[in-house]
Amino acid sequence: MHIDLSGRTALVTGSTSGIGQAIATSFARAGARVLVNGRDEKRTREAADRIREETGNRDVQAMAADVATAEGAQAITVVEPDVDILVNNTGIFAAKPVFEIPDEEWRRFFEVNVLSGVRLARFYIPRMAERGWGRVIFISSDSSVLPPTEMVHYGMTKTAQLAVSRGMAQSVAGSGVTVNCVLPGPTLTPGVEEFITDLMGDEVPFSEAERRFMTEERPTSLLGRLIRPEEVANLVLYVGSELSAATNGAALRADGGVIPTIIP
Ligand SMILES: NC(=O)c1ccc[n+]([C@@H]2O[C@H](COP(=O)([O-])OP(=O)(O)OC[C@H]3O[C@@H](n4cnc5c(N)ncnc54)[C@H](OP(=O)(O)O)[C@@H]3O)[C@@H](O)[C@H]2O)c1
Repeated sequence: MHIDLSGRTALVTGSTSGIGQAIATSFARAGARVLVNGRDEKRTREAADRIREETGNRDVQAMAADVATAEGAQAITVVEPDVDILVNNTGIFAAKPVFEIPDEEWRRFFEVNVLSGVRLARFYIPRMAERGWGRVIFISSDSSVLPPTEMVHYGMTKTAQLAVSRGMAQSVAGSGVTVNCVLPGPTLTPGVEEFITDLMGDEVPFSEAERRFMTEERPTSLLGRLIRPEEVANLVLYVGSELSAATNGAALRADGGVIPTIIP
């Protein structure tokens, strides 16, 4: 399978680290012009520099803005009114007992994890449809179908993304634009590494902590280890390419088999 994204512009939100950075890197490697996004100017510039250096693609640009705000989203759309591929990856998570989550926290999770993607998709999708081609990918989670008891508010946002992306796909049916969700499972990002180290204690080597975490906390995983960000990026790259035209309005798993059902 040969994926060539030259001539395409891809915006990947939250791409200064973790899964977003891996996705931006894979798009850059496939020849796309890539817009790297994070909240902080310096961090975003450094991430763009890293990706440029790693892939040899000079067309990687930093686009710092807080996409969880209307102003942040607008700042991007004013500078870049047309992108061909939009990956709504920005997302936050934090454990909190459901009966202790205050209104502001429900709203914050909704703003960062859902509305950020809604605003950008609402702007870009009609323009993609006019041009007859586009790919929009929401990075959801296994938590969208397996609500985590320790972070129900996070699960709520990830389920909402499934409804939003399916509804948007239906709204531009037949236009050449596809809108899909990709559902990563537990993935080795800096935040997850810290979370597992805190849980298992830092006297245990990380490989052992990872093994115990998967056995004790994620027993349904068929992969039996944390997913690597590049393994999520591989699926996103395919969905973002010409080759995936028949995949639309779907919830696609890169979850290591952690969701124990045949259909997500
Ligand atoms: N890791 C997992 O196990 C896992 C599993 C399933 C789903 N996911 C989903 O995958 C996505 C990425 O997760 P990750 O673990 O890779 O996260 P991460 O390592 O914490 O990275 C999050 C990224 O989002 C950026 N960000 C946060 N708030 C932002 C905002 N308001 N505006 C712009 N950028 C913002 C951060 O950049 P700055 O800090 O530089 O602003 C960073 O680049 C999330 O949607 C998450 O729900 C992750």
